[in-house]
Amino acid sequence: MNPKADNRQQITKTYSYGRQSIDNDDIQSVVEILRSDWLTQGPTVSKFEEALNIKFGSKYASAVATGTAGLHLIALGLGWKKDDIIITSPITFLASVNCAVYAGATPDFVDINPDTYTINPNELERKLNLYAAQNKKIKAVVAVDYAGQPCDWSALKTLQEKFGFQLVNDYCHALGAEYKNDLQYAAKYADAVNLSFHPVKHITTGEGGAVLTNNESLDKKIKTLRSHGMTKDKSILEKNDGPWYYEMHEVGFNYRITDFQCALGISQMQKLEAFVDKRRKIAKYYDDFFGKNKNIIAPHVSKNVKHAYHLYPLQIKFDDLKIAKKNFFAYLKQKNIIGQVHYIPVHLQPFYRRNYGFMAGDFPIAEKFYEREISIPIYPSLEEEDLNYISKTIVEALESAL
Ligand SMILES: Cc1ncc(COP(=O)(O)O)c(C=O)c1O
Repeated sequence: MNPKADNRQQITKTYSYGRQSIDNDDIQSVVEILRSDWLTQGPTVSKFEEALNIKFGSKYASAVATGTAGLHLIALGLGWKKDDIIITSPITFLASVNCAVYAGATPDFVDINPDTYTINPNELERKLNLYAAQNKKIKAVVAVDYAGQPCDWSALKTLQEKFGFQLVNDYCHALGAEYKNDLQYAAKYADAVNLSFHPVKHITTGEGGAVLTNNESLDKKIKTLRSHGMTKDKSILEKNDGPWYYEMHEVGFNYRITDFQCALGISQMQKLEAFVDKRRKIAKYYDDFFGKNKNIIAPHVSKNVKHAYHLYPLQIKFDDLKIAKKNFFAYLKQKNIIGQVHYIPVHLQPFYRRNYGFMAGDFPIAEKFYEREISIPIYPSLEEEDLNYISKTIVEALESAL
């Protein structure tokens, strides 16, 4: 390879923290459906749902418009209501918490484990006991397999058995992860599992999401609510005027996904394993590169887990180094590396502070993590020369900011 040409290419490339991988097969499968009779509400939706069930071992799947829509439907399907308390981790995307608010329930948080960045079951137990002492019960826990690392699901299940709450897995980051050597763990531990197919995720449908469950009545409810609450289910119709007839027993939404998006989903699913393999190779490269740097904490992987690396969250000790994170980001941007931060702790958002009284200091581990975290580029099309450039530039940025 001509080294000069290679340099030029690196300078003009921009690296964001995540991006989609679309090939000709994907495009072809979408085109095929665009030429077919069904753009939406056709057979490709249930084919995609079947592919999800087969891969993730769930009995039922509902493909929906977005991951956020999926969470909303889970909240309604599980019957969350006013005065119900829903607990999640502050280190997640807004939607994991907003779904409680959509249902009129009350959100609360439990801090993360400092090593895994997922909800800390010991802290959760402490909180459950506090609520129990006030004669209050928690309705549900939304546990987020943050970055692609499964939570401590055995511990969560034990707490569920003891305290009797519903368990939701916000699994948007973890497609392809394994827990105790099981890729199909999600629907085994959680009552409902939520997926997103946004372009930065492991597989994409543009926008899109899905809910997996082994609970038939929850699945039925979600399928009805995703399409306005309309039903033709003969077992519940009050009457039947003819083949056109439907009834609405509760108010729903249009949260449907299209057939051509599902065609893309089916095609992408065939590549999930290869995508996750590539992400693991990239993570290994970064682990080796950053692992020995005393100013950087590379993600730790729990013993019984295979990480799926939706994100590669580095913690940089900006505080010890006396470097402003903003300046570090600006330096990287100049070098065409667009980092991101996952996440601003949700309890610190003005909405949650103003409406629920959360404040700085409530969840110190999450807050410290936020100060230090940067998600660096990880997606299947990155090659070794890209990783070399990204890693060296990150270290250079730290040195230049000193
Ligand atoms: C953890 C988590 N939950 C929910 C969502 C919402 O998914 P969507 O963007 O498909 O609505 C996301 C998307 O970023 C996410 O990362």
